[in-house]
Amino acid sequence: MLFQMWRMCVPVHNDILPLSAEYVNGTLHLGGCSLTDLVGQYGSPLYVIDNATIDAQISALTSAFGSVEHEIIFAGKSCLNLGIAHRMHQHGLSIDVVSLGELHTALTAGIQPDRLVFHGNNKSQHELETAIQHGIRLIVDNAYELAAISRLAQEHNTQANILLRMNPEIEAHTHEFIQTGQKTSKFGFDQAQLLPLVQQVTQTPVLNFLGIHSHLGSQIFDPAPFQALAELMTGWVTTLYTDLGVTVQQLNLGGGFGIRYTESDHPADIHTILEPMIHTVSALPQAGIPMPKILIEPGRFIMGRAGITVYHVGAIKQAGDVTYLFVDGGMADNSRPLIYGAQHGVALVQKAQPNTPTQRYSIAGKFCESGDKLAEHIELPTVCVGDYVAMCSTGAYTYSMASNYNRYCKPAMVLVDAGRSAVLVQRESLDAIVAHDQFPLQWT
Ligand code: LLP
Repeated sequence: MLFQMWRMCVPVHNDILPLSAEYVNGTLHLGGCSLTDLVGQYGSPLYVIDNATIDAQISALTSAFGSVEHEIIFAGKSCLNLGIAHRMHQHGLSIDVVSLGELHTALTAGIQPDRLVFHGNNKSQHELETAIQHGIRLIVDNAYELAAISRLAQEHNTQANILLRMNPEIEAHTHEFIQTGQKTSKFGFDQAQLLPLVQQVTQTPVLNFLGIHSHLGSQIFDPAPFQALAELMTGWVTTLYTDLGVTVQQLNLGGGFGIRYTESDHPADIHTILEPMIHTVSALPQAGIPMPKILIEPGRFIMGRAGITVYHVGAIKQAGDVTYLFVDGGMADNSRPLIYGAQHGVALVQKAQPNTPTQRYSIAGKFCESGDKLAEHIELPTVCVGDYVAMCSTGAYTYSMASNYNRYCKPAMVLVDAGRSAVLVQRESLDAIVAHDQFPLQWT
């Protein structure tokens, strides 16, 4: 206790690091755990996830709905493992899955099938069959899939629960790779098809039409396209009811709520985005239209800020006018900079003394690719070999997009909270690297 009082705690005043981040006696702590102790215990690189940030992000989403009936569906693609699936479940969230692997993870974590939705633009027969057998909601992407679902439901003598995904044709400003709502997007039905489709679906006894879905894209800062989406979809709920007499029970407005990666990112506050959307949908009963349950599918908003990745600086090299910090991970544990030109904030694990001069660095990974850079031309207080650096906002789409390039063992992921840590995913072992190799070869 006395020790607690002596500790010099300096909260980190920015909203990029996880919420619980603070420098204690000069060392960055998360969830009350020292990052140097954590890498000592679990090794480096290390993904560290702050439970307090997950909790706070989820409460921000929940509070925006007030008493309006809703379902928050965690986008599993952002970061899914048994522990995270279970945390989401404890928070009352559902989970969206896009593959048998994600589905298996969610089911193994004990998530009830009625709390799952299955996404994808080319679901396999096996995926469709598994979802139908479990009664999992399918977000239908295209006509081929709809036909396959009807056939499989018939074969299994059951009803398939479906929502139809529409392309909203609303362009939102984000990286083109993560836009999904533009006219040429590969996702969803053309809006012009919606009325005949719903008519067809509601006349097919093996299909249980629950509602409609649309998703704008990811890492969107501006409330305007979200509001345009809410208005468009509310309009469709009205049209389906008035023209076809069909009630939309579930209105899924997708995810995509942006977060801060660097000081120059300024996403709108989540309440500023969600409240007008909810308000728009909530006007339906005044027009005599039954109010649907509102569904949203955030991933990054919940997990992004919660995670950091700690790396060890193994060497420093001057190449022309670039000073490289070489770290023990890189593009295989965070491919976002390479794929999207994404920028992540960087913090030193040991706080620099007040008068330490700053220097311009690029952080390069250890993989055999020139493009393997995690950050370029960033200003940091002088860094030495042996220091640890933390890349911020790596909780979403890093581990889930990690690879074994160069036969790299994926780092461990730990959850921290109130001075304790727990392994979510173990560091991959060298045995795991060769586990699926077949040798000697068995010719057939
Ligand atoms: N719903 C659908 C149908 C989606 O396709 C996505 C993301 C989400 C929800 C969740 O979006 P979020 O709330 O996480 O923005 N790898 C990229 C992001 C790809 C997003 C894919 N779809 C990245 O690292 O930025």
